[in-house]
Amino acid sequence: MKILFVGDIVGQGGRRTVAEFVPRLREELGCEFCVANGENMAGGGGLTRRCLDELAGAGIDVFTAGDHVWDQREFANEIDKIPNVLRPANVFAGQPGRGFGVFPAANGLSVGVVSLLGRTFMNSLADCPFQAADRILADMARETPIIVIDFHAEATSEKTALGRYLDGRVSAVLGTHTHVPTADEEVFPGGTAFQCDVGMVGARRSILGRDVAPVLQRFSTGMPARFTVAGSTIRLCATVVTVGPDGRATNVQRLVRETA
Ligand SMILES: [Fe+2]
Ligand SMILES: [Fe+2]
Repeated sequence: MKILFVGDIVGQGGRRTVAEFVPRLREELGCEFCVANGENMAGGGGLTRRCLDELAGAGIDVFTAGDHVWDQREFANEIDKIPNVLRPANVFAGQPGRGFGVFPAANGLSVGVVSLLGRTFMNSLADCPFQAADRILADMARETPIIVIDFHAEATSEKTALGRYLDGRVSAVLGTHTHVPTADEEVFPGGTAFQCDVGMVGARRSILGRDVAPVLQRFSTGMPARFTVAGSTIRLCATVVTVGPDGRATNVQRLVRETA
């Protein structure tokens, strides 16, 4: 089967682009399952029920999140009622929502999806993602051999390490969070597809999806600035993984599409 994985969706422009492009991409590429990282979908930070409802027809089976998952305060009260949204799994016990799940795919198979947060160069109080993966996979592997990990992390070293650590145990370890796609996609020897970062669905002329001027002001003067979400041409970054019924990946390919 083919799995489409879409990088961090940023703001309204990202949502609009996903709604327009993802159904077409699924059809064009023959993808039977789609995961998208939604941590920046609401105004550039966090998720809301309303934003998720807006994408109900976009063909996304599971939304993952990251360090921005609780940016929209009301989402903590909403997440438990939304079965196809995952917050990072390796956070404080007792946080609302869940960090992994097994979901039905269009072809009668099922896909396990896990959301994990990195710790290197991250302002997060996450637990060890390696040990968390071990714990989750011990059970999940009994339910399905097809498992996708969204590793939401900053450091390429930590991401590559988790990919190598899980090689042969999951179908894919795909990175999110940096909003910049990396050119290192590869199927590791054990059959795990890997890419350090899938990228984002956000404005091309931007800094990680935010308007250039305020980010430049912050970097060049050290003075605070409000990081507004950039509009104009939106670039959709995604990765397609081909997986056999045994859960082993046979191909991984990144793609970019742009709005007019
Ligand atoms: Fe992000
Ligand atoms: Fe993030």
